[in-house]
Amino acid sequence: MEAQLKSCRILTGVKPTGDLHLGNYVGAIKPLIKFSQVSQQETFFLCADWHSLAAKEITFSISDSVSSLIAAVIALGFDTKESNGIFIQSHYPQLLELYWYFARFINTGLLERAHAYKASVQENTPVSLSLFSYPVLMAADITLFGSNKVPVGKDQAQHLEYTSDILKSFHYGIGKEIFPMPEAIFQETPEILGTDGIHKMSKSRNNTLPLFAEPKKIEKIIKSLPTDSKTMEEPKDPLKTSIFLLLKSFASEDRVNDMSQKLQQGNYGYGHAKQDLFFAFEDTFGGEVRKRYLELKKYPEDLRILLQKYEQKGHEIANQKIQEIRESLDLNAFLF
Ligand code: ADP
Ligand code: TRP
Repeated sequence: MEAQLKSCRILTGVKPTGDLHLGNYVGAIKPLIKFSQVSQQETFFLCADWHSLAAKEITFSISDSVSSLIAAVIALGFDTKESNGIFIQSHYPQLLELYWYFARFINTGLLERAHAYKASVQENTPVSLSLFSYPVLMAADITLFGSNKVPVGKDQAQHLEYTSDILKSFHYGIGKEIFPMPEAIFQETPEILGTDGIHKMSKSRNNTLPLFAEPKKIEKIIKSLPTDSKTMEEPKDPLKTSIFLLLKSFASEDRVNDMSQKLQQGNYGYGHAKQDLFFAFEDTFGGEVRKRYLELKKYPEDLRILLQKYEQKGHEIANQKIQEIRESLDLNAFLF
């Protein structure tokens, strides 16, 4: 049992494409941080900068987004102990090597069924090879570092299914089981609704609650959340109240129970609920957490030292696996 727990590796990846938001936190970062604090597990965070190159337009600074993202993950509580890891995707050419080995065993039909690809085709926009083969690189990210569990939001479910399919074909093709079969980990709320109250919260839709924006901006966004026309006096069903659902996704049990009771009792309007949501948001992401985030951004040298330490470990894991695969594929002639 002990050995089984020890070998458990958890990994998630996030693209550095702008400001981290509540959806990212709930779907991927919060569960990752919880895992990172458990003693018998190795928990890895991958900053997927190569994946951000698959965007149609790059309207953000990738390097700024990389340091903001890593600073955020640490400030939010990722345990930076030795057994964990933070890796920057583009520092690992082994990922692209694995992508190529996978490519041999993937039929394009699989990639043609991918949601993101199909959406682009439907919009009649040209599709780059990086968008088309995005799931292959993601499968390489997940498997190369030996992940068993992958906490992600609901929108990544298909990518995780593809990873299993790709890995099965690969293992069958080379006649050897090299990697563990990864499993997606979804949260109680696997998809956080955006501030428009309609679509998934997403950077690309500009409907997010950014974690580290100025409190005034966050308050303004929360105040403008859409609501129905129930009066202040009327009791409200918490599970049909989007303000409550947002609160429930991240706040303490006490705060959640408190708002649930108030809504059901009545004499508690949407304005009150918004104020309470803002206070809970500030409690979780403001104060010391925001201060640490800003400090890490201001002194990137601290980040550099940490990342350098982890990089060596990442390369050891990656090189060992790549070597094993090269041997299986008869690619070890004249190695010096
Ligand atoms: P975005 O859609 O804002 O560009 P990313 O694609 O960078 O976000 O997602 C990073 C991680 O956050 C993924 O695991 C993704 O599933 C998760 N995630 C993104 N938006 C949400 C959401 N609205 N609810 C839950 N998880 C989400
Ligand atoms: N595709 C993921 C997203 O859009 C980001 C990602 C890249 C990822 N590599 C990963 C997620 C590995 C989990 C594991 O959010």
